[in-house]
Amino acid sequence: MSTVIVAGGAGYIGSHTIRELQNGGFEPVVLDNLVHGHRKIVEDVLRVPLVIGNVGDKKLLEKLLSGDHPSTRGKDIKGIMHFAAYAYVGESVIDPAKYYKNNLAETIMLLDALLEDSKKRNSKPIPIVFSSTCATYGLPLDTEIPILETNLQNPINPYGRSKLMIEKILIDYHKAYKLPVSILRYFNAAGAHIKGDIGEDHNPETHLIPLVLEALFKKDGFIKVNGIDYPTFDGTCIRDYIHVSDLAKAHVLALNKIINDRSLSIYNLGNGKGYSIMEVINAAKKVTGKEIKIFESKRRQGDPPVLVSLPEKAKKELLWNPSFQDLESIIRTAWNWYLSRNKLQ
Ligand SMILES: NC(=O)c1ccc[n+]([C@@H]2O[C@H](COP(=O)([O-])OP(=O)(O)OC[C@H]3O[C@@H](n4cnc5c(N)ncnc54)[C@H](O)[C@@H]3O)[C@@H](O)[C@H]2O)c1
Repeated sequence: MSTVIVAGGAGYIGSHTIRELQNGGFEPVVLDNLVHGHRKIVEDVLRVPLVIGNVGDKKLLEKLLSGDHPSTRGKDIKGIMHFAAYAYVGESVIDPAKYYKNNLAETIMLLDALLEDSKKRNSKPIPIVFSSTCATYGLPLDTEIPILETNLQNPINPYGRSKLMIEKILIDYHKAYKLPVSILRYFNAAGAHIKGDIGEDHNPETHLIPLVLEALFKKDGFIKVNGIDYPTFDGTCIRDYIHVSDLAKAHVLALNKIINDRSLSIYNLGNGKGYSIMEVINAAKKVTGKEIKIFESKRRQGDPPVLVSLPEKAKKELLWNPSFQDLESIIRTAWNWYLSRNKLQ
C-alpha cells in the first residue's frame, strides 16, 4: 500500500486529512511532536502509527523516508503532507523567533531530508503538500476581493511571513531540484467530521466557531466581538469558512496530482462565500437553539475587514467539489463534535 507521512497529523486539519487519506487508499504515518496535537485521536480513533518527534529532526526524517524506521519499514512512501506549525497570529507578533524557528527553520530541515533521501536512493524527490494560509495575502484592498492565487501576497505578521517564506523556498526547490509541490492556502477551516469522533480542539482556542459553541455551552457565557465598525454590511469582519473534511479531500486530490505530474501547484481553498462574525453567531444560535451574550470590543490590530477566496482554480484543476456549502451545516458538525466530546469527558 502507498504510505504518506503526515507531519502535524495529530492536529485539527491533519487528523481529518488522515481519514481522507485512508478513504483514498493511502496508509498514513503521523509525525508530530504533540506540542499541540492529540495522541488519543491518532492512536485510538484513527488507529495509525504515531512517531513522536520534530518535523525538522533530519535524522529521524531520513530514517522514516528510507524505511530504516519501524513505522515505515518495507513501505512505499508516496508523499509527505506538512501541517506541522505554530499558528497563533498574536503570539507570532510577541515572539516571532518561536515562529521562524518552528515553522521556517524546521521546514528547511525537512526539505533537506527529502533531498538527501532522493540523492541516497538515486531517485526523484518525494512530493510534498504544504499547509499555507490566506494570512499570506495580508490586508487585501476591496478591489482584490475575492482573492485569487495571483493576488499580491504581503503578510502583516510573522506567522503569515513564515508561511510565505516557505512558499518561496518550495517554489525555488521545485525549479532547482524538481521537487513536486502543492501549496494549499486555506481560508478559515471549520467544522468537524460528520461521525463526530474528531474535531477542532486547539489549546488555547482562538477560532470563532469553537469559541461561540464554548460560550453557548457555559452558563453566563459570552462571545467577544472584536470590532463592530468595519466597512462591512453589519460592521463585523467577514471570513470564508471551509469545512475541514472538504479541506482534507482537497489534500488527497492535490497529492495525487503531484504524484502523477510532479508539478508545482498553488490553490486557494475556501468556499468563495463570506460570512460576518454576527452571521456566524446567529447561525450558531439557530443550530444549537441557545442564546448567547455578545460583548462588543475594539478592533484587533491587523484584522482585514474581508477575506474571501475565489476557489475556482482548485475546483477546475483538482476537480474539488466542497460538499459543505452553507454555514449552518458546517456549524452543525462542530456542534455534534462538541456535544460528543463533552459527553465523553
Ligand atoms: N486552522 C486553520 O483555520 C488554518 C488556516 C490556515 C492555515 N492553517 C495551517 O494548517 C496547519 C494545521 O493547522 P491546525 O489548525 O490543524 O493546527 P494544529 O495546531 O491543530 O496542528 C498542528 C500540529 O502540528 C504539530 N507540530 C507543530 N510544530 C511541530 C514540529 N516542529 N514538529 C512536529 N509537529 C509539530 C502540533 O503538535 C499539532 O499537532 C498549520 O500549518 C496552520 O498554519 C490552519
